[in-house]
Amino acid sequence: MNYNSIDWNEVWKQQYEINIEARGRGDCATIWDSKKKAREFLDRSNNNPGRIQGVIEILKPKKQSSILDVGAGPGTLAVPLAEVAGHVTAVEPSNGMADVMIDYAAQKGISNLDVVRKKWEDIDPDIDLRDSYDIVFASHSLGMPDIKESIEKMIAVASGKVCLFWFGGITAWEQRMIDLWPDLYGKEYSCGPKADVLFNLLYSMDIYPNVESGVFNNDSKYPDYDTAFQEFKDQYGISTPKQESVLNDYLKKSLKQENGHYILPGTTTGVRLWWDVEG
Ligand SMILES: C[S@@+](CC[C@H](N)C(=O)[O-])C[C@H]1O[C@@H](n2cnc3c(N)ncnc32)[C@H](O)[C@@H]1O
Repeated sequence: MNYNSIDWNEVWKQQYEINIEARGRGDCATIWDSKKKAREFLDRSNNNPGRIQGVIEILKPKKQSSILDVGAGPGTLAVPLAEVAGHVTAVEPSNGMADVMIDYAAQKGISNLDVVRKKWEDIDPDIDLRDSYDIVFASHSLGMPDIKESIEKMIAVASGKVCLFWFGGITAWEQRMIDLWPDLYGKEYSCGPKADVLFNLLYSMDIYPNVESGVFNNDSKYPDYDTAFQEFKDQYGISTPKQESVLNDYLKKSLKQENGHYILPGTTTGVRLWWDVEG
């Protein structure tokens, strides 16, 4: 095997496309179009301040830093970063997420945050962005089929640090789909590309990033059984009584009761890759 001839961008693209097809629910941005779901995402994230603090420690923003947050979601990181840095541009294509981010920024009295409602692939840096940013990062938001082109675009507007936060191995939400897909849809679930592909792609681009990984708790919490059932029914596009019965059996087996709540336990490995570019 000629290892050096592997096109890691093509590996990413293939895994990305097979995963989108297996999920059958649109891409990584369209699943966040509901403002209610975006708000729930923000609440869940704010219940885990350790992750936000960890990101700030890695990015090390200074008072005057300009920061580009690619796929900012509801402002989970963009808003706390705007509180400590000079300026943040947040790129976010999903309207539900962008609306919640604007509400969140207003609630925190933030005025140094610009929100650009576009996919990263559709961004024209000359029109949509500032000339350059001290820190460019994308956190859990690499829903991008041509990842090489996307990374090159990030590098083109970076004058300091570029940081990608992604996943290693099978995530908690993928494990559930792996468990359920054969009975729900009569086929195996195919996972999306992970940090191994990213690292190899960067390496092939002569970029040798710092890499750090850590396991984080990914328990999902529900006030009652029906809420859990309804959430997965919507998420998985379940429509037939047979599929409902499969989901019911799975949740009955997997949900744990704890202090009046229902918990679906899970862990996910996060991987951070970061490097400095020449200004
Ligand atoms: C799981 S959320 C993460 C939000 C935030 N970065 C965080 O770490 O909490 C993923 C976000 O990435 C956005 N996203 C997905 N694909 C994207 C793309 N191609 N360009 C820009 N944003 C994208 C989604 O719309 C969603 O808001």
